[in-house]
Amino acid sequence: MTCGASGNYTTMATCITRSPEETFALGEKWSRSLRSGDVIALVGDLGAGKTQLVKGIAAGLGYAKRVQSPTFALINEYLLAELIVYHLDLYRLETKHDVAVAGLDEFLIQPNGITLVEWPERWFGAEFFTLNDDKSGFVNKPETNVRRVVLETLSETERRLVYEDFGV
Ligand SMILES: Nc1ncnc2c1ncn2[C@@H]1O[C@H](COP(=O)(O)OP(=O)(O)OP(=O)(O)O)[C@@H](O)[C@H]1O
Ligand SMILES: [Mg+2]
Repeated sequence: MTCGASGNYTTMATCITRSPEETFALGEKWSRSLRSGDVIALVGDLGAGKTQLVKGIAAGLGYAKRVQSPTFALINEYLLAELIVYHLDLYRLETKHDVAVAGLDEFLIQPNGITLVEWPERWFGAEFFTLNDDKSGFVNKPETNVRRVVLETLSETERRLVYEDFGV
């Protein structure tokens, strides 16, 4: 795994992982600095490694059971001794209306736990995930600490993860 600052974008960082295990290890590493109320938004195509990263985060937080994309359930809850991890997958929510009806605000705005969300574009809007230095698109950012992660598939075994934190 290689991590470093992202070119001109001083607030972003990039990691390249070269196996699923390395992505898992990155999640474990991140888990150590997570606190209740944090949201991690995971943007990336099918198979980009979003769930793999979630597995590492959950394991790092002490969750020993199976972690799977809640593509059909929308949300999985992982109960730990001191907090709950909410694992959301919004892939099936196609419109803002679908999101509103699903009633997910409590998990995405000031959650009482840690929220890890796959396909967050469905909720935050695509603008939030355009990688550039222009912060004007972030006026609608949620009232919470969000780490935006963009995962890209570079090859069968390589993934690029570009991430940036938005605090309140
Ligand atoms: N460096 C890597 N990091 C993460 N996964 C990798 C890597 N190299 C290969 N893979 C493989 O890519 C796949 C990633 O699957 P994963 O379920 O994490 O994707 P996802 O982004 O959650 O997709 P979906 O949108 O379908 O939920 C796994 O089969 C994994 O073994
Ligand atoms: Mg997934």
